[in-house]
Amino acid sequence: MKLAIISGGSRGLGAALVEMLKADGYAIKELSRTGRSADSITVDLAQPDQVLKKIPSQFQDLATLAWQEVLLINNAGMIGPVGIVSDKATEEVLTNINVNFTSAILLMREFIGAFQAVACPKTIVNISSGAALRGIYGWSLYCGAKAGIENFVRGVAVEQEMQSHPIKALNIGPGIIDTGMQADIRSVSAEDFPGVDQFRGFKEEGALRQPEEVAGAIKNILNSNQANGSRHDIKDFL
Ligand SMILES: NC(=O)c1ccc[n+]([C@@H]2O[C@H](COP(=O)([O-])OP(=O)(O)OC[C@H]3O[C@@H](n4cnc5c(N)ncnc54)[C@H](OP(=O)(O)O)[C@@H]3O)[C@@H](O)[C@H]2O)c1
Repeated sequence: MKLAIISGGSRGLGAALVEMLKADGYAIKELSRTGRSADSITVDLAQPDQVLKKIPSQFQDLATLAWQEVLLINNAGMIGPVGIVSDKATEEVLTNINVNFTSAILLMREFIGAFQAVACPKTIVNISSGAALRGIYGWSLYCGAKAGIENFVRGVAVEQEMQSHPIKALNIGPGIIDTGMQADIRSVSAEDFPGVDQFRGFKEEGALRQPEEVAGAIKNILNSNQANGSRHDIKDFL
């Protein structure tokens, strides 16, 4: 049996990954606030204490089972608050960093700790963003958190080179996808995000990819034996 653990599997790209991997025979664990399937673990990633309380025992129990392959996809994410960072309340700032960065690190740490000694193919996939690679007005928290988690994954990849049963760690840029996150981006003011009209145009022009298409490209990346620590853009794997 194969196992896929996916954060943010309740909707958007994560839900498409859940459906695709389930159809491919993976046992699924989905982590989110609103996922309501038997595969879901309810956790608010904005609150790292919840991760520490709910996740370690679940991952350790899963690691005692016999797996042919294990996958952790760090997919949960949020764009907001959008706008210049000094205008944002501390609570909003911490929520963004906790979801996109702190809790993602805790999930990966717990995964590595639980599965390190398991001798089957193991992969961590971080769903990154073009925003990890450049600064965007109004998105500084998202840019910073995505850049941080992307480079954390590179560090993990280096650490894993030294292990007896290494876990492969990859970053994937998913391009622009027709999900709730894009609706959130389109809903902000031009004052908070001067590029908002371009993103409204993406939707109107049909430039956003469907989550199922992006999930398929991620599968192509996983099936093409990419190097540990590498970064990929889905447009090369559609
Ligand atoms: N959409 C794009 O164009 C685009 C572009 C580049 C990168 N990405 C990246 O792709 C990934 C998926 O994004 P998406 O577009 O599918 O977003 P989405 O439709 O907004 O879905 C976000 C997912 O993250 C989960 N999530 C958000 N806050 C959470 C919290 N506090 N606790 C637990 N789970 C939380 C949500 O679950 P609940 O609400 O149920 O908790 C949901 O399942 C993200 O990492 C994003 O940064 C997206």
